[in-house]
Amino acid sequence: MLREVAHFVRHAPAALRLKRQLPQAELYDRLCGAGEDAGMAMWRAELVADLAGDVLEVGAGTGLMFPHYGAGARVTALEPDAAFAALAAPRVAAAAATIELAAGTAEALPGPPRSRDAAVVGLVLCSVPDPDLALGELARVLRPGAPLRMIEHVRSPRLVAGALMRAVNPLWLALNGQGCNLHRDPLPRLRAAGFTLDRVEPFQIFTPGIPAFPMRAIWARAPG
Ligand SMILES: C[S@@+](CC[C@H](N)C(=O)[O-])C[C@H]1O[C@@H](n2cnc3c(N)ncnc32)[C@H](O)[C@@H]1O
Repeated sequence: MLREVAHFVRHAPAALRLKRQLPQAELYDRLCGAGEDAGMAMWRAELVADLAGDVLEVGAGTGLMFPHYGAGARVTALEPDAAFAALAAPRVAAAAATIELAAGTAEALPGPPRSRDAAVVGLVLCSVPDPDLALGELARVLRPGAPLRMIEHVRSPRLVAGALMRAVNPLWLALNGQGCNLHRDPLPRLRAAGFTLDRVEPFQIFTPGIPAFPMRAIWARAPG
C-alpha cells in the first residue's frame, strides 16, 4: 500500500497542474494514453482481440479499446460525453474492426433482448450512477452465454487498504470530476446479475497521474 500512496503523492502535483490546463476528455486521453504503454494496451488486446460479430462497447471514452478489436468485430461504441466521443472519432477510422460511435448510456442500452454477440466495458462501472441497472441491461441485450469482457478498478480486498479507499472516496470523487468511485467491487454485482465469471486477472498499472488502483481484467458470460 505504501508504494501506491507514494506513487499518488509523487505525481499528484503535476496531474493537478495538467487538470487546470486541459479539458476533462483531453486530460483523460493524455494520462491514460501513457498508461497504455505501461501495460493497459496488453490487457485490452488480450480481452477483446478474439471477439467477433455484433459487439457493444459501453462507455467507449476516447476510443482506447478500438485498436485492439479484430477485423471480425462490428462494434457499436456508446459514449455519452460528446467531448470524449470527439477524441474517439479518429480512432474509428484507424481500427481493423468496423466501429460505429453512438451516444448512449449503460442504463438504457440500444437493441432488443438477446441481440448482441459480445459486450465490452472498460473502466466504466466505477462511474455509472446505477451499476446494477447497467449490468441488468447487459444481461438483457447479450445472447445467452455471450462474452462480457471488462476492465475495472476495484476496492482492495485487503482490510486496511479497502477501508482507506472507502474513507477517501469522497475526496477522490471531488478530484476526478468524472463521478469515478474507487471503492466499488463489480465481481459480486456481476454474479448477482447472473453472469458466470470464467477468468479474473488482477493487475496494477503504475503510470504518472493515475492512481495505481487494484485492477481486474474480467472474462464473463451472460446468463442463460
Ligand atoms: C474512465 S472512462 C473509460 C473510457 C474507456 N472505456 C477506456 O477504457 O479508456 C469512463 C467513460 O465512461 C463514460 N460514462 C460515464 N457514465 C456513463 C454511463 N452511465 N453510461 C455509459 N458511459 C458512461 C464516460 O463518459 C467516460 O467516457
